[in-house]
Amino acid sequence: MAESLSPEVYSAVLIDHFQHPRNAGAMADADAEAFVTNPVCGDSLRIFLKIEDGRVARASFLSSGCPASIATSSAATELLAGRDLASAEALTRDDYADAVGGLPKAKVHCSVLAASAVHQAIKGWRARTAAAPPSA
Ligand code: FES
Repeated sequence: MAESLSPEVYSAVLIDHFQHPRNAGAMADADAEAFVTNPVCGDSLRIFLKIEDGRVARASFLSSGCPASIATSSAATELLAGRDLASAEALTRDDYADAVGGLPKAKVHCSVLAASAVHQAIKGWRARTAAAPPSA
């Protein structure tokens, strides 16, 4: 069922991100990615990160989710760009919710997808690069 995008429910910023998602799509040269799902509603997010010199150079996403999860994922890609990894990992679901002008109480959980995906992607990247043999 289509969800209402009423401005009484969602901020103008959230509606804009949902209708014009930033950095939507897969990233062919991603260094890190993660796929997360919300077991309750079934919504999912795959996030892609390009990591250069300890920073998130670019981020993109694919989402099958509600307007709040798509909007927070879109905002996350903008928040992440240029951040060092520690700063990216420090972002919380509240930061992503704030970036879309806040979420209605019933939708606060939707920002968890972005936060979880970012943490998993960076954690996986750290594990892989720590395990990789030094390049010659
Ligand atoms: S309703 Fe599932 S993430 Fe929003």
